[in-house]
Amino acid sequence: MLRMLSPGAALAPPADPSNRVADDPQAAALGRSLFFDAGLSDNGKVSCASCHQPERGFTDGLPVGRGLSDGARRTMPVASAVHSPWQFWDGRADSLWAQALGPVENPAEHGFTRTQVAHALAAQYRGPYERLFPALPAAHDLQRIPQRASPVGDAQARAAWDRMAAADQRAVNLAFANFGKAIAAYERTLTVQPGRFDRYVAGLFAQTGGSAGALSTDERAGLRLFIGKGQCANCHNGPLFSNGGFANTGVPPRPGHAPDRGRDEGVRKALNDPFNCKGAFSDAPPARCDELEFAVTDSPEQVGAFKVPSLRGVSQRAPYMHAGQLASMDQVLDHYNRAPASAVGHSELQPLGLTSAERRQIVAFLRTLDETTPATSPRKARR
Ligand code: HEC
Ligand code: HEC
Repeated sequence: MLRMLSPGAALAPPADPSNRVADDPQAAALGRSLFFDAGLSDNGKVSCASCHQPERGFTDGLPVGRGLSDGARRTMPVASAVHSPWQFWDGRADSLWAQALGPVENPAEHGFTRTQVAHALAAQYRGPYERLFPALPAAHDLQRIPQRASPVGDAQARAAWDRMAAADQRAVNLAFANFGKAIAAYERTLTVQPGRFDRYVAGLFAQTGGSAGALSTDERAGLRLFIGKGQCANCHNGPLFSNGGFANTGVPPRPGHAPDRGRDEGVRKALNDPFNCKGAFSDAPPARCDELEFAVTDSPEQVGAFKVPSLRGVSQRAPYMHAGQLASMDQVLDHYNRAPASAVGHSELQPLGLTSAERRQIVAFLRTLDETTPATSPRKARR
């Protein structure tokens, strides 16, 4: 079990056949510039990094993400995302690049449109973009393309999109998809760093009999409870402390908001996403889209289910859960111990009967998963 939680070697990101530039350093450099570029938003102030702040483990410390306005869910860390086949709390995108397109056109986040992205790429990133991808529309063709148009925007943006020629729509969609692919290449370079727990496990397995004393008695008791009586490792397992799946854990809806149906809606959105692995903008042959091919839909277990988050670095990311409903790790442990019924669908949890000392020990153990944030700073790609 301990070797499964801490394999002792850096985790390599899984291949993404849907993104030809996934591991291209030039794409990562361009993606990094785009990730920090607040110009790609309606008010010129919101970038991916506004919410995914490198110095905060790529999160923002808020209950729900705040861009142009407040969103409905909590900002997720980015570094572990590459290891998971589905993105977002409800898994509504099947790749990092498809994910990156969502916030840009979300009215509460960047509030931008894909034609604005195409214009911005042509005006500011043409050089680095065209070293990676087929040429963007030439200046005289861009004149035909409206500033603000999108099939998923507001009424005006949708009308402007419908008036565009099909070939122009396709050129814009292609630039938009490639924008996502460059950002994904950057995100793939953000690795999860080992923490104190990993040094402990490495010590246990070292031939030389390394210092297994790196964890205190309470922390070791917490580890035993995490795997045993607490049943946490049923879902939080593997090197990221996540099984990559979705589960209903009965987290209450935000006060004053309807319960979120989570994965139940997310899986349908992923299957219908024109930017998914089987879509026209994917670089993968359809035979390499297994996750999508075998995705389960219409299962009662998906109602109110959310992505099992990685617990690496978790102590630094309060508040917790998909809408920041629980303020502290103590509240999280109290929730698991009580296992309340779910407002929608059925919770998979059972009451645990943990004493307050045991809950404290599990929290102490979770703190040993803290990591050092990967060093990054906003830097522009060469133009
Ligand atoms: C306004 C804040 C905000 C901005 C701006 C934002 N995000 Fe997010 N991000 C979120 C929230 C909130 C979620 C979860 C949303 C959901 O599940 O519906 C999320 C989820 C994600 C995830 C999924 C991680 C996982 O494990 O599933 C990734 C990756 C990500 N964002 C990357 C980006 C990129 C790339 C950009 C810029 C193009 C961006 N985000 C812009 C708030 C933001
Ligand atoms: C049935 C699967 C399951 C089990 C068992 C489980 N978890 Fe979770 N865990 C989840 C899911 C799913 C979420 C996200 C739920 C949400 O946001 O609504 C989560 C969220 C969390 C979070 C918040 C992380 C964040 O970034 O918001 C912590 C901390 C956590 N779990 C710790 C534990 C501990 C400790 C145990 C054992 C006492 C445990 N989990 C047992 C599935 C599980």
